[in-house]
Amino acid sequence: MTLHLDQHWQPGGKTGALVLTLTHMGTAPIAGARLCLGLTLPPAPGARITGGTVRRHLGTHLDIALDATLAPGGPHRLTLPDLLAAPSNRTHGVLAAWLELPDGAAAPITCGDLEPPAGTARHPIRDWPEGRIDTPLGLLPWPARVSVSQFAPAPVLVPAPGTDPAPFAAIAALHRRLFPEAPAPIALSCPDGRPVATRHDPGLAPEAYRLGFGDTVTLEHADDAGRRHGLIALAQIAHAARTDARFGFPMAGVIEDAPRFAWRGCHFDVARNFHGAETVARLIDILAWLRINRLHWHLTDDEAWRLPSRAFPELTGIGARRSRNAPLPPFYADGPGGQTGAYTEAEITRIVAHAGTLGITVMPEIDMPGHATALLLAVPDLRDPGETADSYRSIQNFPNNALNPALPRSYDVLGLLLAEAAALFPDAPLHIGGDEVDAASWSGSPLARDWARDRGLEGTAQMQAAFMRRVKDIVTGLGRDLGAWDEAADGGGVAPEGTILFAWRSIERTAELIAAGYDVVATPGQAYYLDMVQGAGWDAPGAAWAGIAAPETTYAFDPAAGLPEGPGRLVGVQAGIWTEHLNTRSRLNEMMFPRLAAVAEAGWTPQEARDWPRFAALARLVPQL
Ligand code: ACM
Repeated sequence: MTLHLDQHWQPGGKTGALVLTLTHMGTAPIAGARLCLGLTLPPAPGARITGGTVRRHLGTHLDIALDATLAPGGPHRLTLPDLLAAPSNRTHGVLAAWLELPDGAAAPITCGDLEPPAGTARHPIRDWPEGRIDTPLGLLPWPARVSVSQFAPAPVLVPAPGTDPAPFAAIAALHRRLFPEAPAPIALSCPDGRPVATRHDPGLAPEAYRLGFGDTVTLEHADDAGRRHGLIALAQIAHAARTDARFGFPMAGVIEDAPRFAWRGCHFDVARNFHGAETVARLIDILAWLRINRLHWHLTDDEAWRLPSRAFPELTGIGARRSRNAPLPPFYADGPGGQTGAYTEAEITRIVAHAGTLGITVMPEIDMPGHATALLLAVPDLRDPGETADSYRSIQNFPNNALNPALPRSYDVLGLLLAEAAALFPDAPLHIGGDEVDAASWSGSPLARDWARDRGLEGTAQMQAAFMRRVKDIVTGLGRDLGAWDEAADGGGVAPEGTILFAWRSIERTAELIAAGYDVVATPGQAYYLDMVQGAGWDAPGAAWAGIAAPETTYAFDPAAGLPEGPGRLVGVQAGIWTEHLNTRSRLNEMMFPRLAAVAEAGWTPQEARDWPRFAALARLVPQL
């Protein structure tokens, strides 16, 4: 049996309809089948579908009993109206499809792109010009002050006599991992190597470095991080000069450099689509090359739980397994094969240690109280038994997906999980999510209603704030700072002391949180979410709820523009790699670059030293996954 699904968007009403055309190229009729879909913009619950009847709708998984026997040939049509949003590109439809057959088998279906109404513009996909190079220096992020000249072919850099070789070996190894085929810019010994002398200068700022170019290169620094950044700068400059005719190695002059922000982050969602330890380790190498010093690891969500737990092994046993006949069905592009993936403790320990050698702190996120479907399926005694089923749905269409703030058991379980996370991630803040709790959450829970009344709490935001404050006490008790999404300031919020909030919902949110007294990392979806579409044409892939984040838009965003004086502070910036659409390395690369490097430069380079044409030219040097 060979099956194919074509799809097109039919505008009309608020968001239009998805029209699916199934072609059956086998010879025998198929009776009693169900069509299962993973789709990005599902129809509203209860929408009047034609051609079938919805049996199950969880998140992006839709299971539809077909109205009619599929006769060979076809075509067979289904219409799915009232979509979550109007599609704007070819990736906003069905990502995977299969038939569930009466004998329990699955029949795969190949899928075409979502096609637009006739006449829709399909191009351009990207906006990333060749750029311009005024100074032939292959260095990104660009340094704070550059005054270099006399560009020559790159030497091999070696530690000067009496200089500790270990930091040189570490950066030589980093370069070899990132560019296995490229000539090595650093050796520990080389007959015509250019000596690099490192010097401690306690007058320099944390992470700062100063390079002096001549017959000997001098590298001054106040701390290990400054020395590492200086060596990475030298490795980058020499790598560019050895591999790209546009660049050279300076024989004279100085580079003086220090970071603009202390928090230069990259968020990575491994819940929507799993990416294994090798990919995470390579991402960390790329972050180090770009001077990004925080990995925000989004390990749990509705669709999966990737964090191992000794106290609750079923969290990964059940919560990391998406399968046709499991509590969590296949989502997104999984198809009938589903998706299973979680990290082991050993992998996490190795990744955290690897990041540590490169100056990167790994902050785990356990998303709560919302986005908790995987947790609630794996640990079922976390529900109020009296709660009305399906009494609210999250924006991603998960029913009753928030941990109940009235249940003491919620805090017991979270206390154990946070203690385990603290042991696996020493010295990192613990991020507890807090995003996208539906406004009707807990409205169907008698326990939660009583709990709120007893405490004088009104509405979901206040209930959530009380929950977050209680979890913050747990985090504080573990000796850690708290990380949370910007909603943690709502409904009374958590105390600013020891809290860092991630402003994602809008560009204005950063200023609001600073005015409310918080330390803030700016990560607005409109500029810094790397899953957002990069161009207006129908062929450009990616999510679109926050608009179009072309590379130039991402680069042009100044996180500090228009901020109030205080009482809070902007402590940094962060790129968001959300993976609903990003299930393969090639898709990750397509969406991450050059925008990850643009956020890196916003985090490091003073605003007045930033320059889009130069960045566009240099970003081609950045290694990919
Ligand atoms: C988020 O994008 N929901 C933090």
